[in-house]
Amino acid sequence: MTPRVRAGWLPSSLLLLQLPGCLSLSGPRRVTGIVGGSLRVECQYREEFINNTKYWCKHPCVLLRKTVETTESEREVRRGRMSIRDHPASLTFTVTLESLREEDAGPYRCGIDVPFTLDRMFEVEVSVTRGSSEL
Ligand SMILES: *[C@@H]1O[C@H](CO)[C@@H](O)[C@H](O)[C@H]1NC(C)=O
Repeated sequence: MTPRVRAGWLPSSLLLLQLPGCLSLSGPRRVTGIVGGSLRVECQYREEFINNTKYWCKHPCVLLRKTVETTESEREVRRGRMSIRDHPASLTFTVTLESLREEDAGPYRCGIDVPFTLDRMFEVEVSVTRGSSEL
């Protein structure tokens, strides 16, 4: 590894978090499912994060409220109606929510744990509608 100058890196990365297209992590802005159905969210990440923990949480995302997260040894983790799976080969991870309920709707985040600095996060709005008449 060649040492790299990091001066000024943090503030500009904070700015970039807000700009689509320049993200170290990205995904759909909005996903919709129907009550009783399931939905799947796919988030893409940059190769430098291939070995980091990936997670999915409902806003506000604080440490103890990570809904599901991968671990170093487990690339797929299931918790209740939710599961998360990391696909390092395609630099994506997918989150699945099953047996959707109306109260599952709201803002969520795809996240990547980055030790010693800010986690990378991408906000995804989940909507849950009744029945299929709107489709
Ligand atoms: C990820 O882990 C693999 C296997 O331990 C290693 O070969 C690779 O260099 C790591 N990649 C990064 C970006 O840390």
